Amino acid sequence: MELKLDGKIAIVTGGSKGIGRATALALLKEGASVLICARGHTALAETVAAADLSARQRLEAIAADLTQAAAITQVVSKCLERFGRIDILVNNAGSARPGDFLELGDDIWIEDWTLKFFGYVRMAREVLRHMQRQQSGVIINIIGVGGLNPAANYMTGGAVNAALNHFTKALADAAARYAVRVVGVNPGPILTERLLKMRGALQPGSAIRADDETWRRITPLGRVGQPEEVADLVLFLASERASFIHGTNISIDGGTTRGLMG
Ligand SMILES: NC(=O)c1ccc[n+]([C@@H]2O[C@H](COP(=O)([O-])OP(=O)(O)OC[C@H]3O[C@@H](n4cnc5c(N)ncnc54)[C@H](OP(=O)(O)O)[C@@H]3O)[C@@H](O)[C@H]2O)c1
Repeated sequence: MELKLDGKIAIVTGGSKGIGRATALALLKEGASVLICARGHTALAETVAAADLSARQRLEAIAADLTQAAAITQVVSKCLERFGRIDILVNNAGSARPGDFLELGDDIWIEDWTLKFFGYVRMAREVLRHMQRQQSGVIINIIGVGGLNPAANYMTGGAVNAALNHFTKALADAAARYAVRVVGVNPGPILTERLLKMRGALQPGSAIRADDETWRRITPLGRVGQPEEVADLVLFLASERASFIHGTNISIDGGTTRGLMG
């Protein structure tokens, strides 16, 4: 299938690791130019090094903490300065924490919402202004099935994700008049540093290891997903092949979510 992403310009937030990194590298392979941002310089540099030599001139990496509104403006300005336009936004940087409700103070709730909810909202607003002028573009929000499956030990992340499922549909309504598509992607368990951390698999002495049998019982398909599998979905959704997919949230979770709505 020809995705025709050659020449497109994309921003991938949290593009230095996991799903964001896989998406950025896949977009580059398809001929797109990509700006990635994250806080840590080391992982950003590693992602640049992982790109094919011939594609590196189409990859810009900048350090930015997306909990800061000013950083979001800087990321968008940098993309416009370097590449001249924005065709695709992949809102992906998020790190809501699990925990016991009685132990999670306001600080945790506010920090997690500031990054994932307000980070996505602010980035979408900033980018939509440019897409409005272009009268074209695609915004893809990487959300998470936690928003469809309330759980006692993942309340902040679940609530943020539920809100982002709602936001995605409402934003789709607002953006349609500018010929901009908006789609949400709800990953289930995907084997990234974040999943390993959340399950305690990176802690010294943890009972769970990255290659543990536990992962086989985690989805009906008997395995966790790989970041590249989410990237494939994102690339399809970003492409003209998905030109009638708009205002919907698509799960990619190995069959974990049982509800009829996701
Ligand atoms: N993996 C899963 O099982 C899963 C399931 C459902 C939903 N998701 C969602 O998918 C998205 C990606 O998850 P992932 O598993 O790929 O995570 P990951 O491997 O931890 O990568 C997260 C990325 O976001 C960046 N980031 C974190 N905080 C940031 C901040 N304040 N400002 C800018 N960048 C920041 C990280 O780099 P720095 O730390 O250097 O900033 C990194 O590049 C998240 O929104 C997550 O909630 C993941």
